[in-house]
Amino acid sequence: RFEQSLRPQFLSQYIGQEKVKDNLSIFIEAARGRNESLDHVLLYGPPGLGKTTLASVIANEMNVNIRMTSGPAIERPGDLAAVVSSLEPGDVLFIDEIHRLNRSIEEVLYPAMEDFCLDIVVGKGPAARSVRLDLPPFTLIGATTRAGALSAPLRDRFGVPLRLEFYEVGPLTNIVVRSASLFEVAIDEQAAVEIARRSRGTPRIANRLLRRVRDYAQVRGNGNITVETAQEALEMLQVDSHGLDHIDHKLLTGMIERFRGGPVGVDTISASIGEESVTIEDVYEPYLLQIGFLQRTPRGRIATRLAYDHFGYAFPAGQDY
Ligand code: ADE
Repeated sequence: RFEQSLRPQFLSQYIGQEKVKDNLSIFIEAARGRNESLDHVLLYGPPGLGKTTLASVIANEMNVNIRMTSGPAIERPGDLAAVVSSLEPGDVLFIDEIHRLNRSIEEVLYPAMEDFCLDIVVGKGPAARSVRLDLPPFTLIGATTRAGALSAPLRDRFGVPLRLEFYEVGPLTNIVVRSASLFEVAIDEQAAVEIARRSRGTPRIANRLLRRVRDYAQVRGNGNITVETAQEALEMLQVDSHGLDHIDHKLLTGMIERFRGGPVGVDTISASIGEESVTIEDVYEPYLLQIGFLQRTPRGRIATRLAYDHFGYAFPAGQDY
């Protein structure tokens, strides 16, 4: 896939997430210096911030192979056994959506993480017996949008838990400029800022918008991305000044019009706009919380004054948030 070529391969090329990089670079250098595998890493945070990218960067920096799988793909203990027994010493095993691993697999994973061995049951009924299988030392990198959904024993077995944060406009602008240069398309600094500002702090969205703006510049302009072409293209894509799309729009205006801005439960919002609760919680809410358009309270979600202002609604008298 062409997408692959936008991904940075080493920490030095990875823009943003400075705290995460500072920490990682020390743990990587230390593990390499001792000729050991890196301790298990848990990457968590909203979608699109670079968890998969960072996992392959870690493998490259450690100079090892990476095997990629996901929680839902590992259905039986045997599936996990097949993957881990094919690892070479020091390799990275990447499990995306690790919160979706079922509990019977977790049980098999604990000794694999702690002692690099597998206890698997072979045979059925009275003939069943447990076989211990030694594994090479490896690094498990788990990725999840919801660290809270991991069982505590699993979470506790990661020596390096790292939380990815939304990107500021500055680093996101640098990512857009870098991607444009990989596309070999000319872009004005201000155009890159414009795309970055509307990307919800998320590189995956920034790169997607860049692709669409590039299309627009190619067809309607001379191929170069200027502020004007960027603004026109983003207008046409119906991405607003904060990067909110029509689902954010439906979510917030729905809360304002039908529930007086809340408090309202996420399941009620879900039923009223026809988006799944988990999608609302994992994909839409984190950024709306970050920019202060939404608040979580024990009694439900609240649309704040900022949201009322942004969508041009009068804030109800007597409401105090
Ligand atoms: N492309 C997507 N995310 C990136 C990042 N954090 N640094 C550099 N390029 C990227």
